[in-house]
Amino acid sequence: MTDSKRKILVTSALPYANGPIHLGHLVEYIQTDIWVRFQKLRGNQCTYVCADDAHGTPIMLKADQLGISPKELIDNVSAEHQRDFSGFMVGFDNYYSTHSEENKYFASHIYTALREGGHIDKKTITQAYDPEKEMFLPDRFVKGDCPKCGEKDQYGDSCEKCGATYSPVDLKNAYSAVSGAKPIEKESEHYFFKLGNFETFLRSWVDNHVQEQMIHKLNEWFESGLQNWDISRDAPYWGFEIPDAPGKYFYVWLDAPIGYMASFKNWCDKNNVDFDEYWSESSETELYHFIGKDIAYFHTLFWPAMLEGAGFRKPNGVFCHGFLTVDGQKMSKSRGTFIMAETYLNHLRPEYLRYYFAAKLSSGIDDIDLNLEDFRMRVNADLVNKVVNIASRCAGFIKKKFDGEMSAELAEPELYNEAIAAGELIAEAYEKREFGKAMREIMALADKANQYIDAAEPWVLAKQEGKEQEVQDCCSMGINLFRVIVSYLAPVLPQVAQDTQAFLNIDNISWDSIKAPLLSHKINKFKPLMQRVDEDKIAAILDDTKTAIEAATAQATPPAASTPLTDEPIEETIEFPDFAKVDLRVVRIAKAEHVKGANKLLQLTLDLGGETRNVFAGIKSAYEPEDLEGKLTVMVANLAPRKMKFGVSEGMVLAAGPGGEDIWILSPDDGAQPGMRIK
Ligand code: MSP
Ligand code: ZN
Repeated sequence: MTDSKRKILVTSALPYANGPIHLGHLVEYIQTDIWVRFQKLRGNQCTYVCADDAHGTPIMLKADQLGISPKELIDNVSAEHQRDFSGFMVGFDNYYSTHSEENKYFASHIYTALREGGHIDKKTITQAYDPEKEMFLPDRFVKGDCPKCGEKDQYGDSCEKCGATYSPVDLKNAYSAVSGAKPIEKESEHYFFKLGNFETFLRSWVDNHVQEQMIHKLNEWFESGLQNWDISRDAPYWGFEIPDAPGKYFYVWLDAPIGYMASFKNWCDKNNVDFDEYWSESSETELYHFIGKDIAYFHTLFWPAMLEGAGFRKPNGVFCHGFLTVDGQKMSKSRGTFIMAETYLNHLRPEYLRYYFAAKLSSGIDDIDLNLEDFRMRVNADLVNKVVNIASRCAGFIKKKFDGEMSAELAEPELYNEAIAAGELIAEAYEKREFGKAMREIMALADKANQYIDAAEPWVLAKQEGKEQEVQDCCSMGINLFRVIVSYLAPVLPQVAQDTQAFLNIDNISWDSIKAPLLSHKINKFKPLMQRVDEDKIAAILDDTKTAIEAATAQATPPAASTPLTDEPIEETIEFPDFAKVDLRVVRIAKAEHVKGANKLLQLTLDLGGETRNVFAGIKSAYEPEDLEGKLTVMVANLAPRKMKFGVSEGMVLAAGPGGEDIWILSPDDGAQPGMRIK
């Protein structure tokens, strides 16, 4: 490390724009944010950029299913992501989208450079194709029986029962997860990035730029051979069209990492910073990517090779982290541990989790566990009982007895110097992403501060005659130590740091400023900086998580809703064969009447084109009976009859809308006829 200011560009992986941020994601964004805040506090010029990863088939299909455009979907999701990140105090300098002009420009630019360098190949391949939806199907969107063990409804790439891996054409009774149609095989020309051209470069690059544990993984990959990478997809596809290939689009993973550059370019333009100083091949600035281990192949092989091939600088480091488990197991919907960022924030402040993750994080790639009981006890013991306690034990005396004024001299200069000296070790731990080690060092200092106060006993001295000076001195000493400790914790606890700044009446909290202790300095009134984590709050988070999962599964989810790119298979969706059993018919509402004693129900007589059915429907809030008569609706005609308080209901009508007064039923128009079947 040199003394001069470093110029550092930092990224976290770009979250997919088709789902909410959950606590697993936050391991990464909190880890990165702590590192960035540390760099900034050390006086380095550090810029942190991110974006939503907005392209690809799952996003296209999800928008389709919601009946909105992909652009609307990604805009909505981006707003939610940014709300959650800021809720957790993740302080991006820029948050952008891969669906941007800048990204389109850089994707084309890099692709063109690679093509001109002879690194792009074309080849015709055969793929599964959905003849009904008229689109090629990614492996995860073809389902069927496992060719090995016969298990039903397996994805096109592997069997979850027996673990066999295969290609979608091997599946028996294959069907498209998009439309349910039987896929056919179809040929098309694809574009490939010749990764093998970069083997020599990559073998030497990885040595100094990835973690030890990752080098082993990379060696395995080198040994099994670097394959050409398929970077094109056929229309319909949600992404950027390839410049010289109409109807062909860049595969989402081609333009995703380029999104780092695009987000930074967008920030440069707004802040008058020279983009090329950071990205030219000869750049002297530093570039680091924080990622999860699941996406290492893209960041340690494809990405540096693309940069090399297109004449840009390469990252100084790709930092992989492990996965989050909750109470020792993979986050899971069925276990109710798939906790969303928003759910957590409804009950607890972000810094508890920031601290807990920091205490558990190292520079390695091991998974980290959120044990909820341990979380509560650790946060209470360390932050509330140890750290905040130092201030609350000392502040009152200074305020009441000395009008807020601290002593003119340090009572224990050696102890103070020891705390300052520890700063170098702590800084080194932060720098190396050994946050757990940093937290242990800081807590050891907090222990020392508490021991010092315990021994000095200001509450005893305060009752004795002529001990005023001693009380002021020891409480001032305690507060000075508290200031040092909070400065060290500031990357992890930005709000506590800010509140401490106000309490101590100082201009900033920084590594440098603590070298000079606060002497003859006036502080403000102390307000509790942090409450204990309550058991009830954790129970409430788990309760809300269950409710959120139930609500998400209750919304009718057609097969396309399964987002194959998340780590968790969507549970409790129905499969196409279940859906196919539902007999949907257009019916005319022949008669609609109030039901005596029912608040929500209307009794409907439905005309199925000859046959009539009696159905009780909960749409009284939206319609007067007379407004319904003569209208058309859709019913489930083969629902088993159900005996209700008011009579037997022989089916169910479908209506659309958010509920309450906003429920809509069709008006008779464009040729629908009672009895028509719906497919
Ligand atoms: N869109 C890609 C990344 C493109 S980067 C050019 C992606 N998105 S993601 O939303 O699935 O994940 C975003 C980041 O969160 C990834 O680095 C991923 O490893 C991380 N995590 C997602 N779930 C996680 C856990 N359960 N635990 C820890 N990290 C997790 O991948
Ligand atoms: Zn199987």
